[in-house]
Amino acid sequence: MRPLDVDNRMDVAARFADFAHHEAYGNSERYDNWCQAIAADHEVCGLIADLPAHKQQPNLVLAATRYLGVPEAPPEVFLAWLREHWNDVRREVLARSTQTNEAGRTAVILPLLAQLDGPIALIEVGASAGLCLYPDRYSHVYDDAVRIDPPAGPSTVVTRCATTGGVPLPQQVPEIVSRFGVDLNPLDVSDPDDMRWLHALIWPGQNDRDERLDAAAAIARAEPPTLVRGDLNEQIESIVDAVPAGVTPVVQHTAVLAYLDAAGRDRFYGQMARLGARWISFEGRGVFPQIDRTIPGRRQRDDNRFVLALDGQAQAFAAPHGQRMHWL
Ligand SMILES: C[S@@+](CC[C@H](N)C(=O)[O-])C[C@H]1O[C@@H](n2cnc3c(N)ncnc32)[C@H](O)[C@@H]1O
Repeated sequence: MRPLDVDNRMDVAARFADFAHHEAYGNSERYDNWCQAIAADHEVCGLIADLPAHKQQPNLVLAATRYLGVPEAPPEVFLAWLREHWNDVRREVLARSTQTNEAGRTAVILPLLAQLDGPIALIEVGASAGLCLYPDRYSHVYDDAVRIDPPAGPSTVVTRCATTGGVPLPQQVPEIVSRFGVDLNPLDVSDPDDMRWLHALIWPGQNDRDERLDAAAAIARAEPPTLVRGDLNEQIESIVDAVPAGVTPVVQHTAVLAYLDAAGRDRFYGQMARLGARWISFEGRGVFPQIDRTIPGRRQRDDNRFVLALDGQAQAFAAPHGQRMHWL
């Protein structure tokens, strides 16, 4: 995931073709085909081009069609449906944003989190519904071989991550004593419409992610996180300051900072350098050039497009949803 302000400068056809080739290909055949069909259709590209640039994201437009019940059909049927339902799609696109909440990302966070002194106050900026705030409540399976369960036993949420490069796998999950999230628009897993939107954001054919979302939502419903509405740059200092002595504040974010412009990302980087909290960043390459510069050598794999960093230092490359990670 590149910074959104970079994507916003691409025209619609290029943006959807790029999404097909670099995001959907190999992950969702349906989205791959639909995005290529959009890229080749002048009329549909024109409809999308009339949206504000930051609303032209393929992920957002496609999620709106799924929220509205688009049939899982070949591209020509999809395009006809899109033209017919464009006013409804447009309304949903303007009202919503990409808030994919992927519990699988905690598999990538966990090896770093488990290295930190606890107990931990886990703070997530850009938390969506807060489902990445429960790494200690999920079971994690690495390389189909090593399994780490919560102290209470196996979880209904199981993350699966393939590793290379000698990932320092933890023996156990860390002790997390509070879960706090901030988001421009916190989602509520007890609200059926929010759950419907979260499911719409999962790509066609990814049934394991649908199941994981439901299981993670059940865990969050039983022990809700504290989620506040607000801008991460405005909120982070007071949230960190409120953590009591004797507890380690850990700020994490996954697939969030790409939504800020360069000035906003720089401001956040500066705050993290100053605030004294531990900082786990999991974002696409290019989001923090400051972190990219700490990547040793020039090793970069294209299928692991996200960079995991601790306190501003790159530690690993990983796949965006936490399916794979390569330790540096
Ligand atoms: C793609 S979702 C990722 C959610 C979660 N971190 C995960 O990985 O599952 C990005 C989230 O960041 C939030 N967000 C974007 N810009 C933000 C900002 N300036 N302040 C707070 N939240 C923001 C969005 O509302 C959205 O919920």
